[in-house]
Amino acid sequence: MKFFVDTAEIEPIKELAATGLLDGVTTNPSLIAKSGRDFMEVTKEICGIVDGPVSAEVVALDHATMMKEAEVLRKIADNVCIKVPLTVDGLKTCKALTGEGTMVNVTLCFSANQALLAAKAGASFISPFVGRHDDNGFDGMDLIEDIRLIYDNYNFATEILVASVRHTTHVLQAAKIGADVMTAPPKVIHDLFKHVLTDKGIEGFMADWAKTGQSIL
Ligand code: E4P
Repeated sequence: MKFFVDTAEIEPIKELAATGLLDGVTTNPSLIAKSGRDFMEVTKEICGIVDGPVSAEVVALDHATMMKEAEVLRKIADNVCIKVPLTVDGLKTCKALTGEGTMVNVTLCFSANQALLAAKAGASFISPFVGRHDDNGFDGMDLIEDIRLIYDNYNFATEILVASVRHTTHVLQAAKIGADVMTAPPKVIHDLFKHVLTDKGIEGFMADWAKTGQSIL
């Protein structure tokens, strides 16, 4: 499963990229606003840090303007992935852009039928928002299971990008279902490394090693 980080903050992206475990970045208008940075500038900077896809979202709601915005955004770098909302105009834009060889991430997906439409529109990635689904009394991971089943039934190449991840259990469930990608805030990715028994084990080994009086170097 590929790991994307869901942020427009440069330092956490650099820190995770340095682990060698980061496969891409997702941003959205809210994350850009939170960063306080210029959209074009920060997107260019992020594209220079990671080799994988960097999602940059259009903000127009009509197809013609989405295409114009995508034209500007895809010039930023080769690894820009245009993010469009799951609407009729968004999917028209998806079909046109992927037909031209541009990566597209279809966002704000809340049903398996929407994911089916995105795959038919040739999306590179579909982003079902599991956390927001949970927040509204549904089970976000049931949605991922349904999309996995449908995509496998028809051999769709669209990658399932589990988004709106809130905790490490979402990551575990996504991996068990066989999602292709997950995008999570930096804290959730850092939490994946942690286990109380790992810390306790290191502590014990260090204490016993000190008793030997030896050194490796
Ligand atoms: C995905 O691409 C979105 O940017 C993101 O995962 C939304 O997450 P949120 O529900 O925590 O805002």
